[in-house]
Amino acid sequence: MTEILLGQTLSFHGDPFVLGPESVRVERQGAVVLLGGEIIDTGTADAMRKAYPQAAITDHGNCLISPGFIDPHVHYPQTAIIASWGKRLIDWLNTYTFPEEMRFADPAYAAEVAARYFDLTLANGTTTVCSYATIHPASVDAFFDAAKTRGLRAYAGKTCMDRNAPNGLQDTAKSAYDDSKNLLEKWHGVDRLSYVITPRFSPTSTPDQLSALGALWHENQSCLMQTHLSEQTDEIAWVKTLFPTACDYLDTYEQHGLLGMGGLYGHAIHLEPREVDRLTEVGASLIHCPTSNTFIGSGLFDMESMVARGLRVGLATDTGGGSSFSMLRTMAAAYEVAQLRGTSLHPAQLWWLATQGSARALHAEKKIGNIAKGLEADLVVIDLASTAAIEQATRRAETIWQSVFPTIMMGDDRAVKAVYIAGKLR
Ligand code: GUN
Ligand code: ZN
Repeated sequence: MTEILLGQTLSFHGDPFVLGPESVRVERQGAVVLLGGEIIDTGTADAMRKAYPQAAITDHGNCLISPGFIDPHVHYPQTAIIASWGKRLIDWLNTYTFPEEMRFADPAYAAEVAARYFDLTLANGTTTVCSYATIHPASVDAFFDAAKTRGLRAYAGKTCMDRNAPNGLQDTAKSAYDDSKNLLEKWHGVDRLSYVITPRFSPTSTPDQLSALGALWHENQSCLMQTHLSEQTDEIAWVKTLFPTACDYLDTYEQHGLLGMGGLYGHAIHLEPREVDRLTEVGASLIHCPTSNTFIGSGLFDMESMVARGLRVGLATDTGGGSSFSMLRTMAAAYEVAQLRGTSLHPAQLWWLATQGSARALHAEKKIGNIAKGLEADLVVIDLASTAAIEQATRRAETIWQSVFPTIMMGDDRAVKAVYIAGKLR
């Protein structure tokens, strides 16, 4: 049955970092036409009503109908330890993260947290995530089972670690390869699911394990690969001692076949010029995690330089190192971090990062992250006056971006009025 959603529709006609804010268009009286899980048309409300006279109509009034938010770097197993006090990266991993991730040896616990995680992210309007699981294969099954039940496009992989982690949380080079391969064969391409090869980061993998995962990636080039890169200065110093022959942090991946176009490098804050050159040459994706980078005290990502180099940049919560499940809150943090570096990101750029930019980082921009004919109908409907504070701040707005910005800076799950997954209302 054809359905027309009416509201203010937001769509991208180019990259606002390249073409300016005008490349993001908001149709004040717009419409999105859905059929069979896809967007089959979009335009003005009048034109779409005329073109599809038989369609059912759902009117979202003045709400903004946007592509669903896309969160390309999360750790769903860290759901319960979000907002844990007082540690920096390595201490935070040892104190909070690793003990919690040990609990995922129990598949029932993994299933419970996966369900809770998707409840939270969907309530925040996030329709696709790319997650690290734990070293336990069952934690990947729990994530994909929960995503499949909900009809989501979703990405995840078994986190691999064979050193510098507690005993119960280590695999080996061989078991990491074998388990990842089995999971990849089981899940990659099933429904809307994609397997992602996932070495946690260089400090917790031996060179042998990195090589084994580099080989697996070479054998499965349709998979993405995700890891962490240059998040904190102490971490970088540690990597230097662990890999004395590597010329920098990125080289620890490159030497083992883990640098490439489908590579997603989380954080990427303290990069050397050579690293930026190599990332650019291979067309890698960088994932900016601003609430995490401020919460754990990691540093200020250099958005301006990275987009100027033409790198693919996504925007992510990094829960539970990040302090929120909300991509609105994450856009606000990206704005604040850029301000501290002397750049004011335009609301059109922030919205692009949370949708089309993140889709592009996942090489999925032809499927999700926009409102256009032929794309999958994953949508979020946003109330631009969801609280008294936001409503009063928008009263004098003369442009659409003046109406949207207070929701970016102060909005949360109360702003999320509806979520559509493959055309179905959640
Ligand atoms: N580096 C290695 N593992 C992690 C993690 O779980 N969270 C963050 N923020 N950084 C990491
Ligand atoms: Zn992370």
